[in-house]
Amino acid sequence: MEIIKGSNGNYGLDISNLRAQTGLITYDPGYQNTSAYKSAISFVDGQQGILRYRGIPIEELANHSTFVETAYLLIYGHLPTKNELSVFSNYLNEYSLLHEDMIHFFHNIPQQAHPMATLSMMINSLSIFYQDVFDLEGQFTQNESLDITIARLISTIRTIAAFSYKKFKGEPFVYPRPDLRYCANFLNMMFANPVKPYEIDEEYVKLLNVLLILHADHEQNCSTSTVKLVGSSRVNLYASICAGICALWGPLHGGANQKVIEMLHWIHQGKIPVTEILEKAKSKSESFRLMGVGHRVYKTYDPRAAIIRNICMKKLIKNKKLDPLLEIALELEERILHDDYFVERRLYPNVDFYSGLVYRLLGIPTNMFTVMFAIGRMPGWIAQWKEMRDDNSRIGRPRQLYIGAEEAHYIPMEERRI
Ligand code: SDX
Repeated sequence: MEIIKGSNGNYGLDISNLRAQTGLITYDPGYQNTSAYKSAISFVDGQQGILRYRGIPIEELANHSTFVETAYLLIYGHLPTKNELSVFSNYLNEYSLLHEDMIHFFHNIPQQAHPMATLSMMINSLSIFYQDVFDLEGQFTQNESLDITIARLISTIRTIAAFSYKKFKGEPFVYPRPDLRYCANFLNMMFANPVKPYEIDEEYVKLLNVLLILHADHEQNCSTSTVKLVGSSRVNLYASICAGICALWGPLHGGANQKVIEMLHWIHQGKIPVTEILEKAKSKSESFRLMGVGHRVYKTYDPRAAIIRNICMKKLIKNKKLDPLLEIALELEERILHDDYFVERRLYPNVDFYSGLVYRLLGIPTNMFTVMFAIGRMPGWIAQWKEMRDDNSRIGRPRQLYIGAEEAHYIPMEERRI
């Protein structure tokens, strides 16, 4: 078996012929030692706390880029020229509307529906209204290019998210405006209404750009791997993204950002003291995990969490809007960083630990935090799906270690004894 070399000192053991040569398969629960793809999109060094998109450090993109520019970088592989960015931005505007027949779907969704359920349903419904986009082989037809489908997904996920919030509030939908850029458009669709125009705060627009940039891609995480496994069957991009949204919803993955705020609320309301919640998290007899803490890859502080924590310290304190939940989060972090249980297991705050506090500052409701994660991750899902399809990757079909009955036979009902 050959050792294959990647960038940044990455090496892998090529076992693609292992079974043919030895009759053996590997056993690797959670795929923590297994890669199924070669990828050039994002790079994480979990020991050093490094994250780069197409080689560019996340800190530089957070400081200097916008979410739309970063989305282009991830999907098309380079920072766009002025003209490329203008064409991409125009596509995002041109394809920001939902088919009007889809609007009626919202009228039949219960007001209390979780926005992630609505989002997955609406994204998959795009394949109903734009089914001519793909032929049976999942290849793009001439009447719509991949670029238009990509723009439609990145743009309408905002529209769907905002409309689901308006449905929850019982307010009229606010449509996207061609004069507003990506993040400002989203905030306007969320918070403007016919009797109270929304005053766009450029500081909040900048904060939202940073948060979406930080969530845009992260190697082969659970939801991205789901998008690629589903996409490897050659189903269309909408269906593949819908599967990724469902995977992201889980509390061990993107759903953690909502759970963190709920956990901080418990503590704030005196329902459970910090000491007790830490003991619960450490107890082997409890299934409770400290939300927003720990990571499969990062064994040091998640660089994204560090950037968001810095935002919290600057914005929330400067605005004298010291969120009481921030104080609790900082106390929890301090305890974690000095508790042997967490130190020995190299468990640190991850991207979900502080992100909800910034979403709260922007006025976004807690049950929409994972939707915000999905909006940010959309370019990464698309980029990884596109890379897989450009590589003409084989259909994903993992093996198993069978531990069931050797051989059994059918027993007629009258002879069964249990
Ligand atoms: C994201 O993969 C990605 O890149 C994901 C993501 C992305 O950008 O796509 O970064 C986004 O999903 C971040 C993670 C959000 N999830 C949470 O915050 C949920 C809480 N975290 C844990 O459930 C856990 O840390 C995971 C799911 C994130 C990672 O799980 P692993 O890698 O399977 O770790 P593990 O279960 O093997 O834990 C190792 C040890 C165990 O203890 P021991 O059996 O060795 O005694 O650490 C303990 C675990 O019990 N542990 C925790 C813990 N996380 C791990 N104990 C208490 N609280 C926790 N949060």
